[in-house]
Amino acid sequence: MDRYVTGAVIRRLRENKGLTQEELAARIFVSGKAVSKWETGQGFPDISLLEPLAKALGISVIELLSGEDIRNRNRSSNMLRGKFYVCPVCGNVIRSVGEALVSCCGITLPPAEAEPALGEHAISVEDVEDEFYVSLRHPMEKGHYISFLAAVSDDGTQFVKLYPEGNADARFKRRRVRRLYAYCNRHGLFEVKL
Ligand SMILES: [Fe+2]
Repeated sequence: MDRYVTGAVIRRLRENKGLTQEELAARIFVSGKAVSKWETGQGFPDISLLEPLAKALGISVIELLSGEDIRNRNRSSNMLRGKFYVCPVCGNVIRSVGEALVSCCGITLPPAEAEPALGEHAISVEDVEDEFYVSLRHPMEKGHYISFLAAVSDDGTQFVKLYPEGNADARFKRRRVRRLYAYCNRHGLFEVKL
């Protein structure tokens, strides 16, 4: 494994934490010189040090490996600001309340950015009693289809998985729903604000 963690990342995370090289070294029982070598690219921390190093820097191992520390400033967790992460390999869908570092099938997934639902991806919404009937006129072929629909309110997410050859529709409880989402496996995430 080469460059599984870079010196620049270690330095940035150490400085964010307000530690000197010596202080960081003391926490993980290595010499200050060792830390200095890592940061200047003259060596790498032994793999057995990853966990203690991450702990000393106040982050998870996965954050250390990705070179990012994830901080959610909005801890009140408003679902409307949540994210969808979709794995392009296996189709897994992960919903988070805030920012997260998500990986699936060995890939770090970016949050899906929603575009306005227009044209082929227009989302139609009808009121049926206390529900929304949500549908799209979009192909549902293997290789190009709507793979899920979701309705998001400030306190929750309703989610329906769809499959090729099925219908691109779903019913959702109307209560407090503010956003509707459709995910096309080829074109990504589309959104309607209600
Ligand atoms: Fe599409």
